Amino acid sequence: MTQRTLVLLKPDAVRRGLVGEILARYEAKGLTFVALEQRTIGTDVADRHYAEHLEKAFYPPLREFVTSGPLVAVVLEGDEAVEVVRAINGATDGRVAAPGTIRGDLSLSNRENLVHGSDSPESAAREIGIWFPDL
Ligand code: CMP
Repeated sequence: MTQRTLVLLKPDAVRRGLVGEILARYEAKGLTFVALEQRTIGTDVADRHYAEHLEKAFYPPLREFVTSGPLVAVVLEGDEAVEVVRAINGATDGRVAAPGTIRGDLSLSNRENLVHGSDSPESAAREIGIWFPDL
């Protein structure tokens, strides 16, 4: 079934000059770009996006990181896009993510893991509403 999912290329991806490389992987897979915009967010947007993590010990440094510079927010569309993007992204921790995935190939960190992808169709709908409310 055709789905949409929200992807963030986090500030480490922009700082490291990996935006083109990462977008190329989604594009080559056959996913299409519905929306794409570079933004620098404040803590308000970070807290809405990561609402489920607000009380976690890792959240304060994560908030600091995601607000530390420009990121690229993307809505991708395609067959089973939520699961497909999660597979392309790889496991959360770049140190253990499988080679061949974005994080497995390009990240050595559990926090600065380059990308975010919605974890379910329900999360995708919620997150797209935060980032691209006009869609
Ligand atoms: P993301 O897929 O955006 O979802 C939550 C984010 O929190 C995750 O990617 C990482 O950037 C970060 N994260 C999750 N777990 C940890 C952790 N144990 N330590 C540091 N950062 C984490």
